[in-house]
Amino acid sequence: MENLVILGAQWGDEGKGKIVDLLSENYSVTVRYQGGSNAGHTVIVNDQKFILHLLPTGILHNEVIGVIAQGMVLDLEVLESEINGLIERGIDVRERLFISDRTHLVLPYHKLLDKLFEKKSSIGTTLRGIGPAYMFKFGRKGIRISDLEDAEEFRLKLKENIEFVREICEKVYCETFELNHTSIYDSTMRIYESIREMVRDVSAFLLDNSEGILFEGAQGTLLDIDMGTYPFVTSSNSSALGLSNGTGLPPKFFNNSFFLGIAKAYTTRVGEGPFPTELKGEEGDRLRDLGGEYGSTTGRPRRCGWLDLVALKYSARVNSLDGLIITKPDVLDTFEEVKVCVAYEIDGERTDTLPASLSRLERVKPVYRTFKGWKKSTKGITRKEELPAEALELISFVEEFTETKVVMLSTGPKRNEYLWLTETLQRTNAGYT
Ligand code: IMP
Repeated sequence: MENLVILGAQWGDEGKGKIVDLLSENYSVTVRYQGGSNAGHTVIVNDQKFILHLLPTGILHNEVIGVIAQGMVLDLEVLESEINGLIERGIDVRERLFISDRTHLVLPYHKLLDKLFEKKSSIGTTLRGIGPAYMFKFGRKGIRISDLEDAEEFRLKLKENIEFVREICEKVYCETFELNHTSIYDSTMRIYESIREMVRDVSAFLLDNSEGILFEGAQGTLLDIDMGTYPFVTSSNSSALGLSNGTGLPPKFFNNSFFLGIAKAYTTRVGEGPFPTELKGEEGDRLRDLGGEYGSTTGRPRRCGWLDLVALKYSARVNSLDGLIITKPDVLDTFEEVKVCVAYEIDGERTDTLPASLSRLERVKPVYRTFKGWKKSTKGITRKEELPAEALELISFVEEFTETKVVMLSTGPKRNEYLWLTETLQRTNAGYT
């Protein structure tokens, strides 16, 4: 059986949680490999809503093993409350959750720094300490979960880091520093003791069980630290580029995987940064209201706009997508007209690719193609035959423009609200028909 990779093809919040939940029942292992508790994957199972920030979504299926791989940054307090929250709701993941021994920790001083950095120049982060935790990792000051094995060594490293952050806080930002070394040490060690059985060499485990794995990307391709709209991005490789370093698996491992990109039928983004198709007036508000576009981690209203096919085509290229899944087409049900962006005009010149330069991105004027709206409910439909002709026409255009097959539509938040658009996928052994 092939492995499956599920990636966000826009700026995050594409509805990956629901898709992963739906498809993961066919897999035996589900893996998160980048980001941390900045993610918020929402799933509705039997009318119960779950929002997972750290645990892979597939773990909601009782038989599935969940893996937190080395590319993630792990906030142990969030992890503990997520595990306990699931236990309270009758889902015990303790025996089937594995955590890579190479995973870096997010500690309270990372969250403090996130707040301080945001005060100076705002990216609009989730304030979960993600950027600073990766700064420490790449600056070789990070603390990994395997460091907790040696309690004395951990105590010294923690002390050193806390002093370093205290200096930044007091001398650069002139703020009072209130973090307490002992309480961070005690709480980290207490949680570590409760999860230490889960910590292991995860890349070896994945190599030994190399089939039937679902890799669950967080955020989206346009938030990727290298391929996204830098510096308005997250601090990990949230595109397919993060798979190998995020799991510790060799690049060749993914040769036979199936890569699916998830995109909304329109576009949203939270936080600051360029967004060429953003609608600032009434139409944007209408998309936000109809789509319930408020962040699942921070509750912030999301910025909304038309589907940006230039950006989507770029994502398809970066990730070499085998297929697209379009979510929330029903949000467009009442629109007279539906627009999609087919080119960017920058200083009077047209381009159909996403520029690297922030100043060029900020000068983009979107060129739209307008489609007639379908003015019919597509909410919850499960058969291709029920799709209005206008919606099918739009889907064909998306396929042609992005050179990627649209394999599925998600027509509502519940597990059973979806339809396949292809009877047989090119590579059908990924477990779906
Ligand atoms: P950070 O990941 O908290 O550092 O935030 C950096 C940028 O990524 C901000 O614009 C956030 O709003 C955005 N971001 C981070 N995680 C998510 C997510 O799961 N969905 C959507 N946007 C996100």
